[in-house]
Amino acid sequence: MNETLKTIYERRAVRKFKDKAVTKEIIEQLLDAGRMAPSAINRQPWKFYIVTKKEDIKLFSKEIGTAALKSIPQMGIKNIVKAAASSITHLSHGIDFLKAPDPVFHGAPVVIFITAEKDNEWAGLDIGMCTQNIMLAAKSLGLDSCPVGFGKFIMQAKSYSKLNIPAKEQVLLAVIIGYRDESPEVHERKRDNVIYI
Ligand SMILES: Cc1cc2nc3c(=O)[nH]c(=O)nc-3n(C[C@H](O)[C@H](O)[C@H](O)COP(=O)(O)O)c2cc1C
Repeated sequence: MNETLKTIYERRAVRKFKDKAVTKEIIEQLLDAGRMAPSAINRQPWKFYIVTKKEDIKLFSKEIGTAALKSIPQMGIKNIVKAAASSITHLSHGIDFLKAPDPVFHGAPVVIFITAEKDNEWAGLDIGMCTQNIMLAAKSLGLDSCPVGFGKFIMQAKSYSKLNIPAKEQVLLAVIIGYRDESPEVHERKRDNVIYI
């Protein structure tokens, strides 16, 4: 298998990290890989808000956990079922989930909130591609990551203003990066989803 395929196959969502900082040089390299993602009409809509201070990460994590739990009753059963399976698993841990010291960012040394302007209907797809580039670049450099959809709840957190995100932008995703302290098993992939015409 070539190095690119190896990196793709070896990437996992990692949720336990060593207490080891990631250098600014590496962060910059990852962001640059993110910038190389394709984007609709080449709008490159992403902006990156980097958080590395441990106390800020813990505070955001707690507040996001609270906001996410609060939003469940408003989601309606249909949307809850639609939500990402792992997020549901996390939410189903209920109170335990909230009691964890860092329930959303799992002790990662770097959290990147990725935003785009609110009026861009393609931004979600663009940011997904950008984030995948970041995660694969991280893997190729010996780091691991996890995309965190819960990150968008930062917009409902008390401390949101700390990020200084302009009102015209919205947080679409967060991604956590660090040196892994767990080796998750690969989730088996569904393969009955191909239709040749
Ligand atoms: C858009 C998106 C949002 C996600 N949000 C979360 C999240 O909020 N919390 C989390 O722990 N994992 C989250 N994940 C990670 C998925 O749970 C994970 O990718 C999935 O279980 C497959 O595992 P793998 O990445 O190891 O193959 C998210 C993944 C994606 C693509």
